[in-house]
Amino acid sequence: MQTITSSSQAIELEEKYGAHNYHPLPVVLAKGEGVFLWDVEGKKYYDFLSAYSAVNQGHCHPRIKNALIEQAGILTLTSRAFHNDVLGPFEKYLTEFFGYDKVLPMNTGAEGVETAIKIARKWGYERKGVNEQQAKIIVAENNFHGRTTTIISFSNDETARKNFGPYTPGFIKVPYDDIDALKAALQDPDVVAFLVEPIQGEAGVYVPSAGYLRNAKDACADKKVLFIADEIQTGIARTGKMLAVDHENVRPDMVILGKAISGGFYPVSAVLADDEVMNVIKPGQHGSTYGGNPLGTKVAMAALDVVKDESLAENAEKLGIVFRNRMQKLVEKSDLVKLVRGKGLLNAVVINDTEESSTAWDICIGLKNNGLLAKPTHGNIIRFAPPLVMTEEQIHECCDIIEKTITEFKK
Ligand SMILES: Cc1ncc(COP(=O)(O)O)c(C=O)c1O
Repeated sequence: MQTITSSSQAIELEEKYGAHNYHPLPVVLAKGEGVFLWDVEGKKYYDFLSAYSAVNQGHCHPRIKNALIEQAGILTLTSRAFHNDVLGPFEKYLTEFFGYDKVLPMNTGAEGVETAIKIARKWGYERKGVNEQQAKIIVAENNFHGRTTTIISFSNDETARKNFGPYTPGFIKVPYDDIDALKAALQDPDVVAFLVEPIQGEAGVYVPSAGYLRNAKDACADKKVLFIADEIQTGIARTGKMLAVDHENVRPDMVILGKAISGGFYPVSAVLADDEVMNVIKPGQHGSTYGGNPLGTKVAMAALDVVKDESLAENAEKLGIVFRNRMQKLVEKSDLVKLVRGKGLLNAVVINDTEESSTAWDICIGLKNNGLLAKPTHGNIIRFAPPLVMTEEQIHECCDIIEKTITEFKK
């Protein structure tokens, strides 16, 4: 392997040999520890993205690292052709942790969403009595659930969709945070599920109005429709509770987890449901070679232990308030920032410029130069999502960096 000695050299290699399916900020990271990252040249940064909320426990957490190393020397993969001695304990651990009867483990977030869609459809035919091929799933406008062919079929992001058709049918889109629109769509007897992000992360950290999730869950229950929460980005303490739906005491019929369930070490995703729903799946109907492997499941248990033992939900809740208070003060004194919104440590600042402008990107370059890494989501919105192991002193230092960058920013 070629040794990388400079950031520009690494970027050139990616440009030449890698598919151009991302547009990263021009920084080449070589090391991470806790809330910090270092680039190839040794410059230190605060991480304010946490790999899209996958590294809630901080980079290279020693407890998760040790679990990985230990299991890597014992048994890593058996496939599901055979049993292994970690899967059962993991399934018990995870279902007890979140209070469900059963779990179906997969690898990536998108696979978790695909899994939930398949289970919901099958449940609709076999338990609700929907006629074959007629099942419909309600989704929200501006959703982000991943990148597979079926998932982009119900996206309304043209960049994600265009020229990837024909699209998978069977989805109804309603505006997010609009309970009346949801109730109207629920009148269709072929609807089997409502799939929703408790906070729309990728769209720009849109927090729905208080009561929306609770009312949506009740409306679904009224019509014998499954309420599916995609907690891939919002789950695992990110928003100040273990799950974002916990803010409204909502218990979804299915929960999809990914990202921080394994603390950034190894792709693990999971769908949780009770027997009445999960038991529709029989041998041969779903699976993945790596899904539920001993290495990933050991890592996931260690990652969740860390979240619990280090009270990361409580920390996210506390520091989120500090962050939004500081940003609110900035909104009041700077014309460049319009508003701050979010829950726990999933927040966004909306920049006072058009969606097409490069201002948010340019501010992120400024933040990078000042030692903090964040990335715009949609045009003029910057998401701020640091690892949850941050201290109060550190978050103030980060707010100082953001304030300085915004105050000194020149278009
Ligand atoms: C809410 C949500 N669902 C699904 C996904 C897809 O996860 P993955 O990138 O692991 O496939 C993401 C990723 O950002 C997400 O935020």
